[in-house]
Amino acid sequence: MSAHIIDGKKLAESVRAEWKARAEKLIQSGTKPGLAVIIVGDNAASSLYVRNKVKACSEIGIYSEVHSFQQNASQAEVLDCIQALNSNPHIHGILVQLPLPAHFENNRVITSIAVEKDVDGFHLYNVGALVTGNTIFSPCTPFGVMVMLESNRIPIEGQHAVVIGRSNIVGKPMAFMLLEKGATVTICTSKTRNLAQFTRDADILVVATGKPRMVNAEMIKPGAAVIDVGINRLPDGKLCGDVDFDSVKEIAGYITPVPGGVGPMTITMLLCNTILAAERAQAGIFK
Ligand code: GUN
Repeated sequence: MSAHIIDGKKLAESVRAEWKARAEKLIQSGTKPGLAVIIVGDNAASSLYVRNKVKACSEIGIYSEVHSFQQNASQAEVLDCIQALNSNPHIHGILVQLPLPAHFENNRVITSIAVEKDVDGFHLYNVGALVTGNTIFSPCTPFGVMVMLESNRIPIEGQHAVVIGRSNIVGKPMAFMLLEKGATVTICTSKTRNLAQFTRDADILVVATGKPRMVNAEMIKPGAAVIDVGINRLPDGKLCGDVDFDSVKEIAGYITPVPGGVGPMTITMLLCNTILAAERAQAGIFK
């Protein structure tokens, strides 16, 4: 039997509709949610992501501004910009698009963002809060994956979740968010010895390796929920995920497509985090 295909685009639309109402409520009571995006250099993929974020903000009623710096900008200039945004009452969320050029110290930059405006959830304080079960902001991609699982009523508690990938943006926060919901979590990497031995035992498999179609049908437990975070461009120009969709969908119970799966959820969760930050600012609480 073929897996249920989780439509990330459709789910993103319904989540956005729900949060648009929250944004409208804020606006009516005098607070327009505001997001500032900082981008350094001219990485084509980053520029596209930033354009998509700005467009999504305007569609949901969030004010946004982009601060673009040249590739050779100094870290001090970017830190000055973040300082000004930290004390700007119209800005509730600040996001520094990654990767930064090699001469930047990522943690120095990210930890200069006010904790309550760190809508990516990458500040070391926010990472610690997440790991200890005191989440302030959930990082957007794993947050989107959790919403996909929960809205499809896929059980998490007591299930074996395997995450392939150990990045700070996806793999690590994903593992802790699943753990927080009671899953037994195994973290693997693309280099894990006998990887299939782990994946074949996964009730939930989240793949974030950046390796096109590396997970195939033989690595899947029948009925598993397979979430593909990868997005890779093939030599013929087509996009594909880290999962071999055509073969895996015959074995899995649930599967996310690429494109149209996790991708649309990531930006949606950024919008949610920005609205959440604005709600907290209006209420004068920074939890
Ligand atoms: N680069 C790739 N993914 C992300 C993300 O979620 N946030 C930021 N700031 N940069 C990224």
